[in-house]
Amino acid sequence: MTSSLRNQGADPTGDDRLLVNARPAEWSAFLNTQAFTFKHALADHPLFTLERLAQLAELVSRERGEDRVLYGKALTTPHTAAAWDGLARAPSPSDIVRTCAEAGTWVALHDTEVDSEYRALLHQIVADLSVGFGRDLLAEAVHVTGHIFVGSPRSVTNYHMDSETNFLCLVRGSKEFHLFDGTDREILDERDIERFYWGDFTAARLSAAQPAKEQLFQLAPGDGLHVPVNFPHWVQNSADVCIALSILLYLPENVERAHAYQTNRLLRLLGITPGPIGVDRARDRRRGWVWRALSDKPPRNKHDVLWSGITRLKAPARAARNYLQGVQRSLRPHLVSKR
Ligand SMILES: [Fe+2]
Repeated sequence: MTSSLRNQGADPTGDDRLLVNARPAEWSAFLNTQAFTFKHALADHPLFTLERLAQLAELVSRERGEDRVLYGKALTTPHTAAAWDGLARAPSPSDIVRTCAEAGTWVALHDTEVDSEYRALLHQIVADLSVGFGRDLLAEAVHVTGHIFVGSPRSVTNYHMDSETNFLCLVRGSKEFHLFDGTDREILDERDIERFYWGDFTAARLSAAQPAKEQLFQLAPGDGLHVPVNFPHWVQNSADVCIALSILLYLPENVERAHAYQTNRLLRLLGITPGPIGVDRARDRRRGWVWRALSDKPPRNKHDVLWSGITRLKAPARAARNYLQGVQRSLRPHLVSKR
């Protein structure tokens, strides 16, 4: 299915808002249930020149860690597996941004709010989103972050699902965004979601019959797209460098649901068939309490929100395994010499 853009154009009364057609509570029924497009005013914003993004890349790498700026040779053939294989830390974060087009790479800058100017922009956009949804999303969210993607011409982001409520703002270039309904169990099985929240980021797989169910969005500079949490997608850039900002929200209801899926995954690993998720929010919340209790607080990034509980639970088992392997290694020469 091909969807035409459903935004309503720039609001002449939009004044200094960054989401120029956010009207009070107009989108409230669509949050994480339905994709829709909107208009933003970032296309000529000075924070999105390649030179300014190169400065940002250096800061993110220095302040948040080298693994917060990732890059790789851009794929240009869609539907290939192993979506995130081949991504590496950047030896020179600023250079990989500046040379993206010539080098044919795809670059992801995470946690851009470490820079105060990008943080102010992020918060301003979330304030505009809050108007559109009739909720104070900044106050409610467990974590809010902005990721920026710089992609060389024709580059592809492979089929995957995300754990965030996403508002993608295209700043430069154009994109074909192929979106799939994450609530359709022929597209995304409950076990796929469980494996994803257990740490398998390739759990969502595109089936041969699935393209017939896609929604196709053609995005140009100034267009934004709401991608509901867990809705799988793949993306192809046009014949120009593409720059996009993803506003990513971790809302309480989605974090609770993610933790409930983690519990279901654990139960399944123990041979127990778990009950369904999404029927009763209070029950989902109770089901995932242990992960919330074990999580790092306050979260600094998406790992802290979703996976720090699992990491903490697995740590003793990993330590015990490492200890036993160390004992085995130390005994091996002795046992061999006795033969
Ligand atoms: Fe995504």
